[in-house]
Amino acid sequence: MDTSSINLRYTELANTSCCLSCGGAIGYAKPRPGEYCVDLGSGRGTDVLRMAEAVGETGFVYGIDAADGMLETAKRNAEKLEISHVSFLKSDLEKIPVPGGIIDLVISNCSINHAGDKQKVWDEVYRMLKEGGRFVVSDIYAVTPVPEEYRNDPAAVAECWAGAVTHEEYLNTLSKAGFSEISMLEESKPYAKGKVEVVSFTIFGRKEKKCCCCS
Ligand SMILES: C[S@@+](CC[C@H](N)C(=O)[O-])C[C@H]1O[C@@H](n2cnc3c(N)ncnc32)[C@H](O)[C@@H]1O
Repeated sequence: MDTSSINLRYTELANTSCCLSCGGAIGYAKPRPGEYCVDLGSGRGTDVLRMAEAVGETGFVYGIDAADGMLETAKRNAEKLEISHVSFLKSDLEKIPVPGGIIDLVISNCSINHAGDKQKVWDEVYRMLKEGGRFVVSDIYAVTPVPEEYRNDPAAVAECWAGAVTHEEYLNTLSKAGFSEISMLEESKPYAKGKVEVVSFTIFGRKEKKCCCCS
């Protein structure tokens, strides 16, 4: 997907303190010492740095973002805090330069709704996770489908509403990616955003371990 509108909007917001999150993913995620983690749409890097503190130097955290300004702010924050077991990578969420099967925990906060092809993003989440690995994602869904005329409007997508899909579509995408163990951790009441009503939520899922029962 062309991420130039995302780059523009979020580079402008990189040095502000406005809240860009839509749920409490980091609070539920509970990274453990030694774990390898990824934050999709890592913004200013706050959640990456919190996870880095929790996993310690035997673990590692990747922050993925498409906005140059956000990546610069995040790197600067990591340097200030002298945290080196992190890496901020410029990438579209639809094709992530992290090897497959090495990640224990993927988190994301209010970012996946921006992606043009959400199936590709969730396929990437599945690919990166180890068997038994988990995700905790805060995002939004639209109460009714976003009208066609806004769906591909880059500015409206960058404003965190026009890219939203319905609850049913969201869960279908997860299940097509291969996730079967899924639970909703929190869900807001519907609220107006742009031209639609959306719900903010945080969802948990795990990549199943394949059975190994030959004796
Ligand atoms: C609403 S902000 C959330 C930032 C951060 N997760 C937080 O909670 O503060 C969305 C972030 O996702 C990034 N983003 C949006 N779409 C993206 C895409 N397709 N590929 C990579 N990053 C994307 C934006 O640049 C921005 O930093």
